[in-house]
Amino acid sequence: MTMDQIRDAILSGDRAEETYANLPVPETYRGATIHKDEIEMFQGMASRDKDPRKSIHIDDVPIPELAPDEALVAVMASAINFNTVWTSIFEPAPTFGFLERYGRLNKYSKRHDLPYHVMGSDLSGVVLRTGGHVSKWKPGQEVVAHCLSVELEDADGHDDTMMDPQQRIWGFETNFGGLAELAIVKANQLMPKPDHLTWEESASPGLVNSTAYRQLISKNGASLKLGDRVLIWGASGGLGSYAVQMALAAGAEPICVVSSPEKAEICRAMGAELIIDRRAEGYRFWNEDGTEQDPKEWKRLGKKIRELTGGHDVDIVFEHPGRETFGASVYVTRKGGKIVTCASTSGYMHEYDNRYLWMNLKRIISSHFANYRESWEANALINRGLIHPTLSRTYSLDDVGQATLDVHHNKHQGKVGVLALAPQEGLGVTNPDKRAKFETQINRFKDA
Ligand SMILES: NC(=O)c1ccc[n+]([C@@H]2O[C@H](COP(=O)([O-])OP(=O)(O)OC[C@H]3O[C@@H](n4cnc5c(N)ncnc54)[C@H](OP(=O)(O)O)[C@@H]3O)[C@@H](O)[C@H]2O)c1
Repeated sequence: MTMDQIRDAILSGDRAEETYANLPVPETYRGATIHKDEIEMFQGMASRDKDPRKSIHIDDVPIPELAPDEALVAVMASAINFNTVWTSIFEPAPTFGFLERYGRLNKYSKRHDLPYHVMGSDLSGVVLRTGGHVSKWKPGQEVVAHCLSVELEDADGHDDTMMDPQQRIWGFETNFGGLAELAIVKANQLMPKPDHLTWEESASPGLVNSTAYRQLISKNGASLKLGDRVLIWGASGGLGSYAVQMALAAGAEPICVVSSPEKAEICRAMGAELIIDRRAEGYRFWNEDGTEQDPKEWKRLGKKIRELTGGHDVDIVFEHPGRETFGASVYVTRKGGKIVTCASTSGYMHEYDNRYLWMNLKRIISSHFANYRESWEANALINRGLIHPTLSRTYSLDDVGQATLDVHHNKHQGKVGVLALAPQEGLGVTNPDKRAKFETQINRFKDA
C-alpha cells in the first residue's frame, strides 16, 4: 500500500516538499539482490556459462536507517551496467568482500555488510527523505544519481574525489543500489534529472556517461581536443556509445570498432563515418590457446585505420576490452599518443610490446569512473541535449536477471534499462518542447 502511495504521488506530478516529507515510508522494499550463501554456485564454470538469471533474486528487504549525509530516493528506473554482470557472476571476486570491508569503517557503513547485496549503480527518481546534514536536496525533487561514494575524511580526496582512499562505486562496492524500488545514496551523488527525458532514459547514461567523460574529455583522462582521431572499442556499447558522441560533439574523429553490421549502423546513426567491424575483419590478436600475440594482426588493424583516415594513426585509443586488444591498442596509437584504459573485460593481465610504447613516447593513462564535478558536467551535457541516452531496451524489475544476461552475452546495443516504480515506459517527461528538438537522437538506439 505505502509503495503504491509513493508511486501515485510521483505519477500525479505533485512535487511539493510537504507531500513527500509526509508520505509514510514502508518498512521493506523490493530489490534485485545476490545472496552471500550462493557465491559458490558457479564454481568451475566458464564465465560465459554463468547465468545471472540463477543468481539474481528479487527480494523484499528492510529499509535501513538513513545516515545524516544521505538521501532515500524512490527509484522510478535504473539500468544494467557491466558491473551488474560482474556482481551477478561473482567475478573477479564476490562483491561481499567489498561490503565486509566497508562495514568495518563506522556505524553507518556497518549497515552495508549484509548476507544480501542490493545491486545497481544508476537511478532516476524522486527524493523521499534526506538526512540531517543535507541542505541542497529536498523531498520531492526529481533526480538522477552518479555512483561515486566517498567519505572525504582524508586529505587525499580533496583535489579529485576519485582519489579518496574510501572511494567506492555505489551499488557495486556498497549495498542499497539502484536496481530496486528505493535506494540510499549520499546526497553528493545527486544531480538534476534532465526534464526532456523519460524515467528510464534519464536513468541510463549515469555510470557510463560520467566514465566516458573523465576517460576521454577530462584533464584527468585523455584531454581530447579538436581534430583528434580516437579509436573507440565497443563503439555501440555502454561506454563506447557515449565516447563516440563526445568525440563527435568535440570536433574529433571517432574510428568505431564494432562486431556486427547492425552495430555499425548504430554508429553511423550517431554521425560516425569511420567504422571497423572486428568480426568481419577476423582479427586474431592472440593464438588459439591465448598464450601469444601476433604482431602481424596488430599491423593489419593499423593498416585498416590508415586506410580509413587517409594515412593517419590515432591520437587516442579508448580502451576497455583489456587483454584481448591491449597489445593492438598500444601498437596502433600514434607517436606521442595516448591509450586511456578503464577496464579489462576480456582479462586484466595485459601484455604489450613495450618498445612501441617507450620508443614512440606513447602514454598509458588509467581512468576510473568520475568525480562529482565530472559527473555533473557529463549530466549537464545530457540535460542540454549535446549528448543523448543510448537506451535500446527496457525490462521490468522482475526481469533484471534476463537484462543482465543480455549484457553478459553482448546481445545488447548501448544501454539496457530497468523500470522500478515506473509502471510503464515513456513517463516522466516534463519539458515536451525541449524533447521534441531531440526526439530523433533520443530514439536512435530504441529496439535496435
Ligand atoms: N572503471 C570504470 O569506471 C568503468 C565504468 C564503466 C564500465 N567499465 C568496464 O568497462 C567495460 C565495458 O563496459 P560497457 O558498459 O561499455 O560494456 P558493454 O555495454 O558490454 O560494451 C562493451 C563493448 O566492448 C566490446 N567488446 C567486448 N569484448 C571485447 C573484446 N574481447 N574485444 C573487442 N571488443 C570487445 C563489445 O562491442 P563489439 O562486440 O561491438 O565490438 C561490447 O559491446 C566493462 O568491463 C565494465 O566493467 C569500467
